[in-house]
Amino acid sequence: MSTTTESPYLAALRAEPAARRPIWIMRQAGRYLPEYMALREKTAFIDLCKTPELACEVTLQPIRRYGFDAAILFSDILIPLEGMGAPFRFDEGGPKMESAVRSEAQVSDLRVVDPLEHTGYVAESIKLIKSELGGRTPLIGFAGAPLTLASYMIEGGGSKDFAHLKAMLYSRPDLLRALLDKLADQILDYLRMQIEAGVDAVQLFDTWGGILHPQDYEAVVMPGIRKILGGLDGTVPRVYFLKGSAPFIDMVKTLPADAYGLDWTLDLAEAAGRLGRPVQGNLDPLVLLGSHAEIRRRALEICHRGDDASGHVFNLGHGILPQTPLDAVEVLVETVQSYKRGD
Ligand code: CP3
Repeated sequence: MSTTTESPYLAALRAEPAARRPIWIMRQAGRYLPEYMALREKTAFIDLCKTPELACEVTLQPIRRYGFDAAILFSDILIPLEGMGAPFRFDEGGPKMESAVRSEAQVSDLRVVDPLEHTGYVAESIKLIKSELGGRTPLIGFAGAPLTLASYMIEGGGSKDFAHLKAMLYSRPDLLRALLDKLADQILDYLRMQIEAGVDAVQLFDTWGGILHPQDYEAVVMPGIRKILGGLDGTVPRVYFLKGSAPFIDMVKTLPADAYGLDWTLDLAEAAGRLGRPVQGNLDPLVLLGSHAEIRRRALEICHRGDDASGHVFNLGHGILPQTPLDAVEVLVETVQSYKRGD
């Protein structure tokens, strides 16, 4: 029986030789799994997140079915916002804030709180999942990056053009900075709590960090990322996933991250060469709606492109879609886990 000390996922993140190419996929516990949908019929998403036994069960579902090389805590990036004073709910169309955060008074009313007091159920879930995994599979903790969280807060939910966020950036950059700074402090404490509870690695999700001009990304987004990742130095491997990172590669390489999550809009080998650190990615999730032959061909191509990286964790370039066929995931996992370097 392997232990997390021999985990190919952790070895790849540490730029050490891995026994084989590790794979996990973003949103691996979710709506494409019938066993998840069965639980969701009885329980709201937020209650799955807040009930350690259920969060643990859902976290383990994709591990049992596919044998992924890492489990990821079942939760959501918005979870820490409630305690800060920015309540939200999830409905059919995704997350919705109870009120959009746009004024100076609203930003100054937000509190940085003790994560154990307000999100202690997350620590409980982690302890339970770790004991169920029994050292066989490592557990990934995560948080949303400040700009991504701020986009939901300012827009009041999901957005196509980020008009309110950009209006704040171009009219009150000081206010946006103040919001991002508070979020960075909260997220750092929240990830520290997860690490203390036992996660083996952390991933910072910056889904919307790529919507800005590179100079704005550098001036407004990077200080918070640097504070969070730098504050976790010497703990567990830190992965920074920036969707749309292609124009920002030379900037993100200056961040104190151990590895980078990449989407499908760049070449994995080229990005790994420029970053000089382990990479995670980068199959387009829509490939899983293609033929099995095409899934195998593209998965193998990405494995090849990862051969010369200092470490490569196979993943999708973004979350798996609910309409993904179960056998497509099986073909993907089998292809990646049986890949031999140079195949
Ligand atoms: O990866 C995993 O399996 C771990 C769990 C996880 C979820 N969300 C569960 C979830 C993680 C890591 C996230 C991160 C997350 N949440 C991000 C960053 C990554 C990304 O996908 O861009 C973002 C932007 C969110 C915010 C969020 N949560 C949105 C926009 C939505 C609605 C859209 C959607 O895909 O449903 C959610 C809901 C959500 N988060 C679901 C799940 C399984 C679906 C809930 C349901 O069962 O109805």
